[in-house]
Amino acid sequence: ASADVAKGEKIFSKCKACHKIEPGANATGPSLYGVVGRNVGSMEGFGYSGKLVAVADVWTPENLNHFLTNPKGFAPGTKMSFAGLKKEADRANVVAYLESLVN
Ligand code: HEM
Repeated sequence: ASADVAKGEKIFSKCKACHKIEPGANATGPSLYGVVGRNVGSMEGFGYSGKLVAVADVWTPENLNHFLTNPKGFAPGTKMSFAGLKKEADRANVVAYLESLVN
């Protein structure tokens, strides 16, 4: 099944507690506008842990899929306190939603 942006927007409600989608709007977590294809840990003004850049360079769909499966497993010591998305379809849909925000 191909990814579903509308379903991804619903899944994103789990992320909204900490992330905004407006460009440059950092909160508890960094803005996720344009995150697909963005360099890891590159939002100006956000205080990252340094644990994400230790394990990845660019937020490709594949890296996002791995990170969102188990954030602390992918990047030990990350300060993203989120258990992850267990269902592969949920991860694919939320990545498709994030990709859809740009343009
Ligand atoms: C970092 C996605 C849920 C807090 C990140 C990054 C991504 C991401 C892609 C790295 C961004 C970058 O390198 O600029 C998501 C998605 C979520 C989610 C898609 C929902 C499915 C949450 C929640 C919280 C949170 C619920 C707070 C409880 C953070 C924090 C960071 C982060 C603090 C920085 C981590 C660090 O520097 O180690 N998130 N996130 N996220 N997120 Fe989330």
